[in-house]
Amino acid sequence: MHPASANPNVVNPNVVNPNKALWEKGDFTEIAAFMRQSGESVVQSLGITPSLRVLDLGCGDGTTAIPLARLGAEVVGIDIARNLVEAGNRRAAEAGLTRLKFQEGDACNLEGVADKSFDLTISIFGAMFAPKPFDVAKEMVRVTKPGGRIVMGNWIPNDPTFLKISSAFTPPPPEGFVSPMTWGVESNIIERFGQAGVPKENISMLKDTYYFASPDKSATQLTELLENFYGPTMNAVEAAQKNGKAGELHAQLVELGNAQNKSKDAGTLIPATFMRVTVSL
Ligand SMILES: C[S@@+](CC[C@H](N)C(=O)[O-])C[C@H]1O[C@@H](n2cnc3c(N)ncnc32)[C@H](O)[C@@H]1O
Repeated sequence: MHPASANPNVVNPNVVNPNKALWEKGDFTEIAAFMRQSGESVVQSLGITPSLRVLDLGCGDGTTAIPLARLGAEVVGIDIARNLVEAGNRRAAEAGLTRLKFQEGDACNLEGVADKSFDLTISIFGAMFAPKPFDVAKEMVRVTKPGGRIVMGNWIPNDPTFLKISSAFTPPPPEGFVSPMTWGVESNIIERFGQAGVPKENISMLKDTYYFASPDKSATQLTELLENFYGPTMNAVEAAQKNGKAGELHAQLVELGNAQNKSKDAGTLIPATFMRVTVSL
């Protein structure tokens, strides 16, 4: 099998996987539309050349995979959400990018992806959402070539993000649940990659800024899109509705969005701090 061909049956359609259900809920492409500019900037900073084989893990509809392929790299995007894989493949076809393909798969178990097959494994706010972080670190290391790199973008706990507000309205997660935000903490990053065999000297971590941007959609519109199309926020809205608190959640999200919006016109420009992790193998 070609090393990039992840087994499409890796996710059994008869078993409900809450991680998959969360991301197939709604339509993340509506939010991704605000993330294109920063996705492009991250890619521009990576020194991409056409000789590189790149895995984009938790790629969504291709915010980073498409610019990577435009720079000539051969790119495989793997995502757990079928609708986003389909959206990615549509975007790749529209852009005429033949060295880019999207396929379904789970970052916790990249079954069907050969060892040491990518020069670069990138995951921008993607693999952090998979439920088994130690397995994710191990899989990313396994599929990346010695001498290659892993680059992750992870949200940071306690940063005043939309996710933080939403989680305040959502019931506590089940016992044993590992919060995705723990991927934004240096000691966890070192421990997870350490167990995957990477010495801490090979891991660099720095805080960077990502922008949610739109030339014509306001921060209030972004808030409404999150409530209607972004799985984690949709769950928060549903939980808040049951407690009669949906109005309160909406007001807090709108207030946060507008308070953080740096756009000087009718659009949106909301900065968000994230942890940029580079692992050298
Ligand atoms: C916040 S979105 C980011 C998407 C994309 N990287 C971007 O920058 O637009 C998180 C993505 O991770 C994917 N994801 C969540 N859990 C995953 C898992 N276990 N394996 C693969 N992808 C996963 C979701 O389906 C979703 O596309």
